[in-house]
Amino acid sequence: MPFKTIIEPFRIHSTQAIKHIGEPQRQAALERAGYNLFGLHGDDVLIDLLTDSGTGAMSSKQWAAMMDGDESYAGSRSFYRFQEVVQGITGLEEVIPTHQGRAAERILFSTIVKPGQVVPNNTHFDTTRANIEYCGAEARDLVIPEGRIPSARHPFKGNMDVAALEETIHAVGRDRIPLVMVTVTNNSGGGQPVSLANLKAVRAVCDRAALPLFLDACRFAENAYFIKLREPEYADWSAKRIAQEMFRLADGCTMSAKKDGLANIGGFLALNDPVIAAQCRNLLILTEGFPTYGGMAGYDLEAVATGLEEVLDEDYLTYRVRSTAYLAEKAVAAGVPVVQPPGGHAVYLDSTALLPHIPPSQYPAQSLAVALYRIGGVRGVEIGSVMFGKPNPDGSETPAAMELVRLAIPRRTYTQSHVDYVGEVIAEVARRKADLRGYRIMQQAPWLRHFTAAFEPL
Ligand SMILES: Cc1ncc(COP(=O)(O)O)c(C=O)c1O
Repeated sequence: MPFKTIIEPFRIHSTQAIKHIGEPQRQAALERAGYNLFGLHGDDVLIDLLTDSGTGAMSSKQWAAMMDGDESYAGSRSFYRFQEVVQGITGLEEVIPTHQGRAAERILFSTIVKPGQVVPNNTHFDTTRANIEYCGAEARDLVIPEGRIPSARHPFKGNMDVAALEETIHAVGRDRIPLVMVTVTNNSGGGQPVSLANLKAVRAVCDRAALPLFLDACRFAENAYFIKLREPEYADWSAKRIAQEMFRLADGCTMSAKKDGLANIGGFLALNDPVIAAQCRNLLILTEGFPTYGGMAGYDLEAVATGLEEVLDEDYLTYRVRSTAYLAEKAVAAGVPVVQPPGGHAVYLDSTALLPHIPPSQYPAQSLAVALYRIGGVRGVEIGSVMFGKPNPDGSETPAAMELVRLAIPRRTYTQSHVDYVGEVIAEVARRKADLRGYRIMQQAPWLRHFTAAFEPL
């Protein structure tokens, strides 16, 4: 084609107003929220890049399918459609609907993870880690070394360090490892993809040790598309075929349909082992609901089934990956280093590089996230020592491996001019970087503290 602009592959059918408030009002909102961006009222946020989870726009086909949702308590037609779509992509036999990803994690881990065990993953997402730790086990991150260096360029920075996985299995003993997980794409490590070659190598290690391999599959379609773009062997494969190949290598998956399910709520656990599936369903009935709806309404099952079909459309995936890279280019042009290459769903600003005057103990990424909101009304999220710092017995903290601010892009929601505006806000914050100060935590919960902690500027 003679045109270089990759357009949004949709036209807008209904709109939702957003409104500007000034910097003084935003400062007041921050004080009310204890400088925790999770504590803001949504109406006080202009461009909300807090998460790409459940925040996207649904298509007219999804809304239409919802109208046809079957709300039968047992045996809902919508469940059978959902099951068929999930099985068609994953090839996994047992499909267990849950209200979101963490419910699938909790049900799976409560069933197969025991205290004192170790679960390897490329990088655990916060809810995955917390659910494993809640079971008394250790969540161990084994991403390749490049995956921990924001500026290191590698096409598959989400890859598992296969040698480290083998060493872990050897050192821990296979009996103390209930499963191996791989997160696609690797959200906490910068939204970076995992190659099919790496998944095959991990599969081979799991086969040798007779260990089950599960995917944390929230962004499986974005991962599949990166494989198409970056792993030459698969350049001619469709995104769907690549996704099917990824799942063929796994014994099961947990899924938050709020991401690549293109829905506002929903998730599932899928696996091949019927015995474990039966145990999981027992727990499902106790905490989520009957197995043919789990934690979802019939109309949610329809929205997710349609979303899973739409997400593998390559016009959509081309636009998705390009619009994320476009924001990354804006940040770099503004002098703010980002995790390179940009991931699929988000741009990760490197606050260690931007704010060397704020030590990790004073949460530089929190400082940057707060400044983006105060100055421009843009809400991102800290992915650094607030989220992943480890308290030591002497009251100090071991900092996270990276101090990042994630700007996650809701699917099919913002236009190019919204992203241009965000680029300007980043540039303005970078100009004022010398004025930014660190933070102290005033109050925190025993786990997942980033959601509710209160801060004070230093
Ligand atoms: C990689 C990953 N795993 C699990 C989850 C948890 O999913 P949910 O928010 O639907 O519980 C998320 C959510 O952001 C995620 O990014």
